[in-house]
Amino acid sequence: MAISSRGTVVLATGLLVAAAVCAAAAAAPLPRSLSRPRPSAMKNDTSLSHYFYVDSCPQLETIVRSTVDNAIRQDVRLTAGLLRIFFHDCFPQGCDASNLLDNGERLLAPNVGLQQGALQLIEDIRAKVHSQCGPTVSCADILVLATRDAVNLAGGPAFTVPLGRLDSFAPASDGDVFSLPPPTASVDTLLDAFSRKGLSDPADLVALSGAHTVGKARCSSFGNDTITPKDDISRCLAGFCSTGDANRLRDLDFLTPEVFDNMYYIDLTLNKGPGVMLNSDQGLASHPRTNWLVRGFADNHWWFFDQFSTSMVKMSQLKGPQGNVGEVRGNCFRPNTAAAGAAAGEGLAASA
Ligand code: HEM
Ligand SMILES: *[C@@H]1O[C@H](CO)[C@@H](O)[C@H](O)[C@H]1NC(C)=O
Repeated sequence: MAISSRGTVVLATGLLVAAAVCAAAAAAPLPRSLSRPRPSAMKNDTSLSHYFYVDSCPQLETIVRSTVDNAIRQDVRLTAGLLRIFFHDCFPQGCDASNLLDNGERLLAPNVGLQQGALQLIEDIRAKVHSQCGPTVSCADILVLATRDAVNLAGGPAFTVPLGRLDSFAPASDGDVFSLPPPTASVDTLLDAFSRKGLSDPADLVALSGAHTVGKARCSSFGNDTITPKDDISRCLAGFCSTGDANRLRDLDFLTPEVFDNMYYIDLTLNKGPGVMLNSDQGLASHPRTNWLVRGFADNHWWFFDQFSTSMVKMSQLKGPQGNVGEVRGNCFRPNTAAAGAAAGEGLAASA
């Protein structure tokens, strides 16, 4: 099975890759033009590069940006959808599109409410890219690029990301998925969870939490709001969730919910009290290792943008214990092997 799936991937990845892979072992000499490995050939343990697809898919970044642009004009919530999917992909076992697989991680509690439209957008871009370039670009890279572009299109910073990630063969383990911290987590727990993933600078935690400047959470995620609200804004926000519908969605950034800006930090410094911000977010404003960063990002959005870009690039390079190992999926929702594909059963529509 392993051998035939490897063969399929090599074939699908194209003759040049096959030539590069076989070159060392082949007795018969290969034509000169085929015997030189291409820099963009997708192989296990390739390191990431800014020039990864220059030869194999030069139009990649243009396709991604224009498709994301069109999509968020239709549905502004997609920026938040992509950001959260990106975080939930990278944090458990590295950025390998493992949470795009049907019937896997998405069924677990930390992934409740991942936006279906944003998942489908990644697969739609994958189909477009593969129709123009062949099956060269991984779903994991498309997710990173689409998220990066959505942030910028929503008003946030522009930054470059290295490429060349491979898609996982299987979902992450339950244990890894539950390394995603819950909204009830204390700042010490959050700092610890991020450190374990190599995001050990408190600025990584504080800046990345700034993604909550867009998007919504279920009322149940905001937790306890039974304490008497102290002003009109907190009364209004707390009232929104007092209907008893735990799944009702409320804006995470109550000032500018659709814009990628530093208002989330200003929300935090306003200290509206329990139930107004996520508990995990509110804590950042008072903990001694993070409060100065919250104040700094609230005062200076350029500092926030700069740190956010740095930390996103850092998170986008997280790898699982096996390193950059996997395949280029022909459908982001399923592994390439036939058996695994059949087991995946019905899921989101593949757009190929
Ligand atoms: C620091 C630890 C974090 C915790 C505890 C946390 C927790 C949460 C929770 C509970 C929700 C709402 C889920 C729901 O009620 O359906 C949420 C939403 C969201 N999270 Fe986080 N998060 C964290 C970090 C991050 C990071 C690092 C990013 C991205 C870089 C991110 C991006 C988002 C976005 C954009 C949403 C809104 C999603 C939407 O509107 O569809 N979060 N987060
Ligand atoms: C990586 O290695 C695995 C297992 O040896 C193989 O199935 C897979 O096709 C390889 N991926 C690439 C892109 O060569």
